[in-house]
Amino acid sequence: THIDWSVDDAKKGGFEHYMLKEIYEQPEVFYNTIKALEKDTRLPMLRIPAEITVVACGTSYHAALVFRYLAQEYSSKRVSVEFASEFKYYTPPLRDMVIAVTQSGETADTLTAIEKAKARNCSTLAVTNVLGSTVSRSADWTVFMCAGPEISVAATKSFTGQLAVFMGMVNVMADGKFTEVLAHAHRSIERVLPQEMGAAVSLLLSATEMFYVGRGVFYPVALEGALKMKEISYIHAEGYAAGELKHGPFALLSPETPVVAICTPGRTYGVMLSNVKEMKARGAPVIGIGVEGDTEVESIVDVFIPIPEDHQMVQALTVSVILQLLAYQTANALERDIDKPRNLAKSVTVE
Ligand code: G6P
Repeated sequence: THIDWSVDDAKKGGFEHYMLKEIYEQPEVFYNTIKALEKDTRLPMLRIPAEITVVACGTSYHAALVFRYLAQEYSSKRVSVEFASEFKYYTPPLRDMVIAVTQSGETADTLTAIEKAKARNCSTLAVTNVLGSTVSRSADWTVFMCAGPEISVAATKSFTGQLAVFMGMVNVMADGKFTEVLAHAHRSIERVLPQEMGAAVSLLLSATEMFYVGRGVFYPVALEGALKMKEISYIHAEGYAAGELKHGPFALLSPETPVVAICTPGRTYGVMLSNVKEMKARGAPVIGIGVEGDTEVESIVDVFIPIPEDHQMVQALTVSVILQLLAYQTANALERDIDKPRNLAKSVTVE
């Protein structure tokens, strides 16, 4: 008998790439991580102190920035976020607790940062995906994201796992106010997964540079979307806080620089719409993400990508997934080496 699939194909479970398989695992990852946190009786007992510093690199750093926005909006905690590689070499004000976020648990800069925090008598918490990893042995406490092994170099499901941990912590800090919201979030992630983005992808295929813009919690979501695009499609993508675009990057806008704009309802909706109009006036093609049925956004952008109407925490998840799919489909159309992009490593264990 002849079997014309390899062990590698079998592990991909019918998906063309590990990245796509891992994107599709996200509803389950979010659900499992939230459930595991609920059972983790230590979490409320952690008595998360009033001042927290989070250290991380890459995608994990973006998850930490999402946490900063949410924690400061829904609790009285003060959260600062540092690149682990910077934290090592300068001395930010001492906080009560240092949280190290690292999918692999082995990133050299993050490990050094946690050692430095311990030397300064801060309590330490690791958020990681790998049981028995160096970071979990080094920190006082560890919370695991239940993402399972992530093979593709570009992080996707581990980001969602990190957001689940952080959103679970915000829920504890807000006395359980978001329990219901978080319990249903996986369904919204499921709903955006089959999203076909042909029109948006064709708009990007000839681009060599592009922007991602958002406000509030959608600013780090934009940063992460841009990182995914850079990593796997090699298009130079920059994430910006939408209000900052006029302080320099406007000089780069032209019909050759597409912009992805996150225009979800809420406090910054009106001002995002004005930003989109300013970008359109400078000739930039705009891909707008908004809630389904939002004809106002749809009428001013070139391509509209809908997400379900939800709490903004859930929208941070669904928009992130949309941006992963956009990067994936673009890189696939460009025939890039999606699971192993050039020059990158899954885990950076040297400084
Ligand atoms: C590498 C990976 C990134 C990842 C970063 C931090 O650069 O390519 O995807 O976000 O390391 O990794 P960590 O394991 O610490 O989360």
